[in-house]
Amino acid sequence: MKQYLTPDEWCIVEEGFHAAYNEITESLMSLGNGRMGQRGNFEERFTGKTLQGNYVAGVYYPDKTRVGWWKNGYPDYFAKVLNAANWIGIDIDIEYESLDLNTCTVRDFRRVLNMKEGYLERSFIATLKSGKELKVNARRFCSIVDDEAGAIRYSITPLNFDGKITVTPYIDGDIRNRDANYDEKFWDEVRKETGYAEAYIELRTRKTGFHVCTGMCLEIEQDGAPIDFQSQPIRREKYVANRISLDCRQGQETVIYKFACNLSSLNYDSDHLVQETRQYIKRLSSKGFERMLLEQKQAWADQWKMNDIVIEGDVAAQQGIRFNIFQLEQTYTGEDERLNIGPKGFTGEKYGGSTYWDTEAYCLPFYLSTADPKVARNLLLYRYKHLGKAIENAKKLGFRAGAALYPMVTMNGEECHNEWEITFEEIHRNGAIAYAIFEYVRYTGDERYLVDYGLEVLIAISRFWSQRVHWSTAKQQYVMLGVTGPNEYENNVNNNWYTSYIAAWTLRYTIEAVGIARKLDPEKYAELCDRIHFREEKEVETARHIVANLYLPYDEDRGVFLQQEGFLDKELMPASDLPKGQRPLNQHWSWDRILRSCFIKQADVLQGLYFFEEEFDGETIRRNFDFYEPMTVHESSLSPCVHSVLASRLGLKEKAYEMYLRTARLDLDDYNNDTEDGCHITSMAGTWLAVVKGFGGLRVRDNQLVLNPYCPDNWESLSFKVRFRGALLQVKVTKAEVEVQNFSARPVSILLADAPLTLEANSRKAVNRTEKV
Ligand code: BGC
Repeated sequence: MKQYLTPDEWCIVEEGFHAAYNEITESLMSLGNGRMGQRGNFEERFTGKTLQGNYVAGVYYPDKTRVGWWKNGYPDYFAKVLNAANWIGIDIDIEYESLDLNTCTVRDFRRVLNMKEGYLERSFIATLKSGKELKVNARRFCSIVDDEAGAIRYSITPLNFDGKITVTPYIDGDIRNRDANYDEKFWDEVRKETGYAEAYIELRTRKTGFHVCTGMCLEIEQDGAPIDFQSQPIRREKYVANRISLDCRQGQETVIYKFACNLSSLNYDSDHLVQETRQYIKRLSSKGFERMLLEQKQAWADQWKMNDIVIEGDVAAQQGIRFNIFQLEQTYTGEDERLNIGPKGFTGEKYGGSTYWDTEAYCLPFYLSTADPKVARNLLLYRYKHLGKAIENAKKLGFRAGAALYPMVTMNGEECHNEWEITFEEIHRNGAIAYAIFEYVRYTGDERYLVDYGLEVLIAISRFWSQRVHWSTAKQQYVMLGVTGPNEYENNVNNNWYTSYIAAWTLRYTIEAVGIARKLDPEKYAELCDRIHFREEKEVETARHIVANLYLPYDEDRGVFLQQEGFLDKELMPASDLPKGQRPLNQHWSWDRILRSCFIKQADVLQGLYFFEEEFDGETIRRNFDFYEPMTVHESSLSPCVHSVLASRLGLKEKAYEMYLRTARLDLDDYNNDTEDGCHITSMAGTWLAVVKGFGGLRVRDNQLVLNPYCPDNWESLSFKVRFRGALLQVKVTKAEVEVQNFSARPVSILLADAPLTLEANSRKAVNRTEKV
């Protein structure tokens, strides 16, 4: 755990340069706008520890997988979002010396990520070996208004000399992914152009053939006014720059403005990419830096109006939750249904920027509650568009008749994971995709989605489950063998309770959805049945038979569901009995030992109880929680949040808070020693769940919003905003009362602490806090 950042409610602040932690800070101070993202790297040359990273959404490369023994069914490639051209670079040279924080003396260093207004700022004073001193202030942002662009204001002031300073703003496309399996480069140059104070470079990805043109233009001010300057173009392989030599006086501020954008062939015709980029850049420079920044601040203010969570009485917690919300908003905006949410967003290379079940199981509720429903709907449409590939994927594995198996890891609908033994059998992800459809419809009330898209996906997934189970003569029940549940510390198990339960639930929900669709639009439903050869009577009958006869392992004595068959044969012990030095297990134990042990990487049975809470009584949830929670080592960042929500539901406030703390500042405090690889974006959604579903007790039942909020003891108050079916509500809870405010122009009826409450349009009501049960 590292605590080198200054607590602040709205900013992430690094006071003094922590060179050894630089890659961590770079991850934390990443900027993004859903279409591109940039780590918190320095603009000027830096020879110290750094991971340069700029990522363009949707642009990926199918890296060759690394594998010892190739097996049938193994994915052909491991897709990764590429590290793209560096657009922020500005080299600074003073006579024969370079400004490089690794080689000069640095004082008054301050790097601040301003989450309220959406920009990154850095200031410092550097003393070069010659004794020359320079003051630098750099400010930049990835615009959420012009979402393919970024802008930089870089100011230099010589403190003890007059003389020439050479600045070289550049675009460098000679980039490699650090995580490339075979250390290959993935980009080829297509063309480049340089002009007066501007430069463009178009690159193409190998194999996938995406084109990305990165362009820049420059303006320079001295003494607060624009100046004319000479710019010398530089062109090298995959590199363009403009070198500018400036006469600077002691105490005089020189400001370089760099406007840049990344346009990709996903959105533009690749034949005209440079032309389009030039026009885009022209538009940015005519707007100017200050106006762009003003628009950015305004757009972020509008976002925060919809999604802010305010915690009074604990600055570290406040900073943590805002950081999580900020990063989620930067990662996915819902503007484009071809895009999704990588577990590390745009903050690093790990997990290759691909889509995992994380989106459906963890992220969806955040976007459902904080954004227009079209945002969550686009996440669903992403999977709908991949249905054909999911059917193909299932076919490759021997399934038929339109059965679909969605990939565990994907960029374009094809399976592209890198770890056969673990990921291959995690077929539970199919269930999460079905569950997301249910959750979207339950939250928004948009049953039409089922008719138009959802039912087709549900039928295909149900067909997979119906074929994946088989009748066991020994048990006289259906069984599901050879799977891996969410707990990846068990592979290839039989009858994993979570997987079997979600399979049966999908069959049940599909039957329900068939009824809804048939009623809502009989014609369209008939057309669908025809198109996908859905024989309702027969398929529904099979589904009913499976649901009624599926084996779900259960231990009568303990009254708990068994994670899988044979779980009780293990040597059961709580994780608290493990010597401290042996955690995390995955860094200390052999894989063989981990697989044999009872220790659980992440919620598995409990994941099911979290999803399907309403199908179980409190006592059952409690018994299972008490049994599994002590054996869970939470070595996935997706684990504690599920435990936290369940603990809140059970009234275990201390446990809920303890679990919440494990994810709330996971990256800010580098809790798992891995933030340098990037931030845990999808687990940030989990933190939001722990607060809003956990402490806030938010649910939707019978088309109504239900709240059962409480305020953790360490806080004075908690308040959060949620959107629900066209209304925006704010819930504020203190130890004494709960206040709900309706910002919409119509009345809203909710259930607050189990009592009905109607809020008139634009009104608020406070009620004495009822103890949570
Ligand atoms: C977890 C998976 C998750 C993946 C990406 C793994 O460590 O076990 O459930 O999908 O990380 O976040």
